[in-house]
Amino acid sequence: ELEDRLKGLDTTPAKTLRSTKWLNHPDDIPMSALMMDRYLNFGLTREELMSNKPIIGIAQSGSDLAPCNRYHLTLAKRVREGIRTAGGIAIEFPTHPIQESSRRPTATLDRNLSYLSLVELLYAYPFDGVVLLTGCDKTTPACLMAAATVNIPAICLNVGPMLNGYDKRELIGSGTVVWKARELHAAGELDDEGVVEMVTKGTPSAGHCNTMGTASTMNALAEALGMALPGSAAIPAPYKERQQCAYKTGLQIVEMVHADRKPSDIMTREAFENAIVANTAIGGSTNAPIHLIAIAKHMGVPLNLDDWDTLGHDLPLLLNVQPAGQNLCEEYYRAGGLPAIMAELLDQGKLHADILTANGKTMRQNVAGKHSWDRDTIKSYAEPLMRQAGFLHLKGNLFDSAIMKASVISPAFHAAFLENSADPNAFECRAVVFDGPEDYKARIDTAHVDARTILVMRGTGPLGYPGAAEVVNMTAPGHLLKAGLAYSLPCIGDGRQSGTSGSPSILNASPEAAANGNLAILRDGDVLRVDLTKRRVDMQVSDAEIAERREALMAKGGYQMVESHTPYQDFFRREVGPLSEGMVFERAVKFQRVAQR
Ligand code: FES
Ligand code: MG
Repeated sequence: ELEDRLKGLDTTPAKTLRSTKWLNHPDDIPMSALMMDRYLNFGLTREELMSNKPIIGIAQSGSDLAPCNRYHLTLAKRVREGIRTAGGIAIEFPTHPIQESSRRPTATLDRNLSYLSLVELLYAYPFDGVVLLTGCDKTTPACLMAAATVNIPAICLNVGPMLNGYDKRELIGSGTVVWKARELHAAGELDDEGVVEMVTKGTPSAGHCNTMGTASTMNALAEALGMALPGSAAIPAPYKERQQCAYKTGLQIVEMVHADRKPSDIMTREAFENAIVANTAIGGSTNAPIHLIAIAKHMGVPLNLDDWDTLGHDLPLLLNVQPAGQNLCEEYYRAGGLPAIMAELLDQGKLHADILTANGKTMRQNVAGKHSWDRDTIKSYAEPLMRQAGFLHLKGNLFDSAIMKASVISPAFHAAFLENSADPNAFECRAVVFDGPEDYKARIDTAHVDARTILVMRGTGPLGYPGAAEVVNMTAPGHLLKAGLAYSLPCIGDGRQSGTSGSPSILNASPEAAANGNLAILRDGDVLRVDLTKRRVDMQVSDAEIAERREALMAKGGYQMVESHTPYQDFFRREVGPLSEGMVFERAVKFQRVAQR
């Protein structure tokens, strides 16, 4: 169908291409020659560059340093063939690599760095359109943020999830297995060797994490926004369909340039609302609100955490993939991928159906009737995995804003904390407070933690742990686990969380301790009341006492954070906003549609 359209396409663009300003100055041929000559020295010809063919960037971040995206190197070749076939010229280039698990202090720090550098590249070079190769967690939002700012025709192509991991017949999910192994290790049920073996079974092939972690989430949301081909997000990296999809994406971007279909035509308020709705149905990551708000800010679309609660909380979980469910991404893909999820939502009138997507069709045209055949993996709307599975947006006297994912509260936690409480939607606990992950590691086994403790992690927001650490995953101490504690303790943090813990995790609290939010004055033993109906978390400390503690905090110069270790960390801290606002560089937001300048 697409190829038919391309055959019938008038390849003479209606207006001069953006790249022509660089490469074909009729009134300044020496300038054209200068701009062009280095592109010739690897074999492109003057005719190709001066024939007004669309110049398409292939932005990829695969390298030995970024293993999750390393398969970009292969996919880019197939994208290039698509671009060529459709009459474009491909210019492939590397973007800032991000390696999620070994980058210190945290890979989130790099999202904005990658964003800034990609904006510069797309603005400054002769691109008419770009294929954004995405994948590992922050690489996808970084690309979409840059596409929003620059606003040239752009389409995402995910690297694709890894194949399923297995231990014998048991599924092992990348990323989430770490938390399971940690718990078994702490309880003495797994030795050191066993931990390494178990964890590495979760990463059996090329691709990004095979769970519904941040990578699968953000690529599903790219598709839900309309910024990727329908059905593309879930295809496992090594499958043949992934390479075929790379080729089709290359064809598509050339068509998008001719149609002048830009991010601003696709990433509208309605598209962001669709993405929020989709996120609940897939059981998406708690990092999604941060990244989606960041993309919206750079697109100039108003979006906030109340929107996430209002539009997303009440919806059901449809996708049975870890961490909220049981399966992994191979099942997700074979069950129909995101279009099968969207088809359920479409039937219920939960989507803006008539909005434009990258392929020039509407969301409805892309997903209508694509219901799953596999009801174990993708549930029907009538019989979901869980009802009301979205995020709650919490406020109170401890912070102005934090989110909680409702879909991961375990039945054991529910039975222990909520069923016997006077209000089955509220509970109280004593806080044990840690200043960062190092403090947690040092003290978790000796601190006064019991079965009614709420674990608090502070100093881990965008300023405190520059970039916001993904460390609000706190397991109970070994003595409680050995005694058979059947649920994870509730936790609160001004940082982020990876995977799931099966308990209420109150995350991304803003303002963070390092910005002298009230988390900074919380003490061990303070009672916290969490009221899910009222969407509040309050420390049971009088206003007078709060004022006194705040005064004392400010008198000693505020919350003490570690110093910056690199120039960029320092730059980041001076420019960044809170997690509740997408953790963007606030002064960057005013630069919009820069390619049109
Ligand atoms: Fe790269 Fe999960 S760590 S995708
Ligand atoms: Mg992660």
